[in-house]
Amino acid sequence: MTIIVTGGAGFIGSNFIFYMLGKYPSDRIICLDKLTYAGNLSTLAPVMENKNFRFVKADICDREAVYKLFEEEKPDVVVNFAAESHVDRSIEDPEVFLRTNIMGTAVLMDACRKYGIIRYHQVSTDEVYGDLPLDRPDLFFTEETPIHTSSPYSSSKAAADLLVLAYYRTYNLPVSISRCSNNYGPYHFPEKLIPLMIANALNDKPLPVYGEGLNVRDWLYVEDHCKAIDLIIRKGRVGEVYNVGGHNEMRNIDIVKIICKALGKSESLITFVKDRKGHDMRYAIDPTKISEELGWLPETKFEEGIKKTIQWYLDNRSWWEEIVSGEYKEYYSKMYDKR
Ligand code: NAD
Ligand code: TYD
Repeated sequence: MTIIVTGGAGFIGSNFIFYMLGKYPSDRIICLDKLTYAGNLSTLAPVMENKNFRFVKADICDREAVYKLFEEEKPDVVVNFAAESHVDRSIEDPEVFLRTNIMGTAVLMDACRKYGIIRYHQVSTDEVYGDLPLDRPDLFFTEETPIHTSSPYSSSKAAADLLVLAYYRTYNLPVSISRCSNNYGPYHFPEKLIPLMIANALNDKPLPVYGEGLNVRDWLYVEDHCKAIDLIIRKGRVGEVYNVGGHNEMRNIDIVKIICKALGKSESLITFVKDRKGHDMRYAIDPTKISEELGWLPETKFEEGIKKTIQWYLDNRSWWEEIVSGEYKEYYSKMYDKR
């Protein structure tokens, strides 16, 4: 099988490439990535020499480049991870989110229609469902929960999902969609909660918790997400949406305290800062459909996953230190200095 993985130089896409090359050594994987601020070619160093792997630097919105790649590689499957993925950045500047997340998805699916494909898989997010109230722990997102977005990021992802389902209905394109909860693990860009707190704590910098830190996210170890996508592209039904999440809801403040404890840092580093605009309160996935239909279950417990993740950041300081010393510095001071 030949698989095009877009956005494979980012967090989840790179973990997916490592997982797939390890599990299916005879499959061919082509990573198509624009290498935005969030894409890092050094992340893919361990597979660059693999003869079944190819890296192509291109924008998913660049129709000519995308069609050329499809002509050359004749992929069986496309898994689209490429996206602008950070809510805070989408609040600052929505436009690129609309371009990449919506138009890029359309270009990829047009290529699939033109050249033929066994499966187009869209990597989406639970954020398309909006949020749940904190005082209703009995409520969860199912695949039937109405789309009800809060941020420019989640709105752009929801628009893409609707377009994917429209290409299925209108053109009979064999698509599937996964909507996963928050991931954590190795190669997570340090602008997101968990790696940001690990990196700041290691540098004895303040740990900026938005609002009171009571917002709840449903955390899943990245490899469990990769396994779910692998199952969906091989066994999932065409035209279907699958929610992915492991019932691991945690408040932000508790995550930050766990990180302080694991690193032997004082909780006095925790600084409560101005809340995010439109901040979603709680995300919580009901994964019944993927569990019952495809037998997927999360394998890594949070206590084990967070330990592995923290150890990875300790062992791979140069990976994230390079990032936090570059243009990220400017981003950080713009977002946090006066917060
Ligand atoms: P990321 O920001 O770490 O990586 C995104 C990658 O896409 C980068 O390598 C970047 O260079 C590339 N990219 C961006 N714009 C591009 C373009 N126009 N053309 C080609 N490549 C481009 O993101 P992530 O956290 O790995 O998320 C991957 C996908 O999973 C996204 O679609 C995101 O919406 C979704 N998702 C993420 C989470 C999470 O917790 N991180 C949860 C659920 C779903
Ligand atoms: P984030 O990792 O940006 O993921 P998402 O917003 O897509 O869920 O944020 C996770 C939670 O952590 C969210 O409730 C916002 C909060 N947060 C902070 O409190 N401080 C921070 O510096 C960041 C980046 C996030």
